[in-house]
Amino acid sequence: MVNERSANEQLRVWAPGRVNLIGGHTDYSGGLVLPMAIDLGTVIVGRRGHDRVVLVSRDDPDPAEVPLHVTDPASVTPDWARYVAGVVAEVVPGIGFIGQVSTTLPIGTGLSSSAALEVAVALALVGDDRVDRRQLALACQRAEHRASGVPCGIMDQLTSLLGVDGHALLIDCTTLDVTPVPMPDDIAVVVVDSGERRSLASVGYGDRRSEVIRAAEILGPLSSATLDDVERLDDDALRKRARHVVTENQRVRDVVEKLAGGDVAGAGALMTESHSSLRDNQEVTTAALDALVARLVATPGVYGARLTGGGFGGCVVALADPGVIDVGWTVVPSAGASVAPL
Ligand code: GLA
Repeated sequence: MVNERSANEQLRVWAPGRVNLIGGHTDYSGGLVLPMAIDLGTVIVGRRGHDRVVLVSRDDPDPAEVPLHVTDPASVTPDWARYVAGVVAEVVPGIGFIGQVSTTLPIGTGLSSSAALEVAVALALVGDDRVDRRQLALACQRAEHRASGVPCGIMDQLTSLLGVDGHALLIDCTTLDVTPVPMPDDIAVVVVDSGERRSLASVGYGDRRSEVIRAAEILGPLSSATLDDVERLDDDALRKRARHVVTENQRVRDVVEKLAGGDVAGAGALMTESHSSLRDNQEVTTAALDALVARLVATPGVYGARLTGGGFGGCVVALADPGVIDVGWTVVPSAGASVAPL
């Protein structure tokens, strides 16, 4: 993994956040997702050198100061430094890095601010030459697990690293195959914050993941299970989770087809169906998220809306005619992370 830049070279690293258009809670069971990297993200400016990684942040008075051999990233303070430490623990750089980090991402709302930080730190430490971006995404995913204890899937880190300008990414989370899907340029992708912080997110997310994995142990890979298979599950909760995953994988395929055919209304309707399944089957929405989706889809010119991210609070993503939603962030499908000499 180590592919280090020479000491003292000044770098600017950019790592975008992501919004997931459809394919919620499918990545950790090897399913399909359709996220896009966005024009909000995280920048690190600095230089290699020293015997530790030291980053100051615009958003926290306390710096991250991480030794090159760190064994327990979760115990590092301040909180945001855990993610830096997670990446250092995975990458094990031979040389440190001194720099500054800043972000245009709203932190902790479901637009992958932590994945953007991990990817930016990883690229600052290893550089971009000859690096295998899939392997780096997997290292950043492990870093997230070690830092936060949240057993996230691969979508966020992979999207930040492999984003394509003007495109969403169809990702098969079993093979990690990534197929860029052109996004119509006359349609706005709008992210709206419910204002509800994701307080139960790590517990709820971990529980859902365990249930989905348990269903897959009984049925075999959910990516090839049918609804008939699902209905044979005795346990109510497992049956609902598996039903969500199997129907959601199909909705991802269907949205890709609708977008290819220019049927934005059809794609939007599937996003709203996805939200209903996240509410009724996966049970990761909240009353505030449900009300926000209902309000958005009742607005003329909005084609569909759904929870994006892990749930239990956070943001909703909508497909709409430009200008009809006057809150939130209108985000642009963007290229993946980059490293440039300064
Ligand atoms: C979080 C995780 C992702 C994915 C989504 C739900 O964003 O980090 O891996 O599981 O939730 O789709």
